[in-house]
Amino acid sequence: MKAIESFYQLSNGIKIPKIGFGTWQIKPGKETFDAVSTALKVGYRHIDTAQGYYNEESVGEAIKASNISREDIFVTSKLESHIKTYEDTKLAFFETLKKLDMSYIDLFIIHAPWPWSEMGKNCDEGNVAAYKAMEELYEAGYCKAIGVSNFEVKHLKNILDNCKIVPHVNQIGYFIGIDQSETIDFCKLNNIFIEAYSPLGIGYLLSNKTINQIAKKYEVSPAQICIRYLLQKEVCPLPKSIHEDRMIQNTIVDFIISDEDMKILDQVKGDPRRWS
Ligand code: A2P
Repeated sequence: MKAIESFYQLSNGIKIPKIGFGTWQIKPGKETFDAVSTALKVGYRHIDTAQGYYNEESVGEAIKASNISREDIFVTSKLESHIKTYEDTKLAFFETLKKLDMSYIDLFIIHAPWPWSEMGKNCDEGNVAAYKAMEELYEAGYCKAIGVSNFEVKHLKNILDNCKIVPHVNQIGYFIGIDQSETIDFCKLNNIFIEAYSPLGIGYLLSNKTINQIAKKYEVSPAQICIRYLLQKEVCPLPKSIHEDRMIQNTIVDFIISDEDMKILDQVKGDPRRWS
């Protein structure tokens, strides 16, 4: 079966489509509506949004307009990075449901261990408070799974030590070249599923020489190599595109990269991302 039609299973038994559609940096309104509508049309059944992307409303509208059953689409949203209290987490979650116009979401995760404006700050207490609210939302059936994003081992340990439910997911920046081994090893050991955002290094990875050489060998694009590499690492890539041809290309990933070529790709080092 094609990867785009296949699922992984989370530790609580919930099925999650192997490839998700990332919506970070897609503008709210028509751009998001069109992108998500097209993604659903070409076969994506897993849409990743966040409160901090400001496009939840448009994601919800596109899902509704698609006429695909709600149960057949896996929807993720994320708690804004600065929200670190029990009460505000609940309020923010219900805002998300309202914006998406849904009665539940499939996955709700803490966007980051600290506010983006204070990266590195110790928010252990706040993360536990937020996560406890999320545990209740999960137990009440408002989300099918809960988790975290951008959490390193120390942040994960804080949750494991102080909360009941082991996060079902940790969504991290993961692509060829970045070293996430410590976090991934810890997550594997604790049955925390890894989702990979920026699987194409927000596009900067696509000019990498090694990736281009291997793409040529398999007669596919560099983007397809990047996505296939992550599938062979058994994580869920979340590629973003606003172009239909690229969205489609990013789903045609059912070739196999040989062990030898995976090892060559493992040797690529560095983070090519630029934000300016
Ligand atoms: P665009 O949205 O204009 O198509 P990531 O998923 O790592 O965040 O990368 C997203 C970036 O990569 C976006 O700039 C997107 O551009 C670009 N992109 C996505 N898919 C492809 C593709 N198949 N070929 C080339 N560029 C792509």
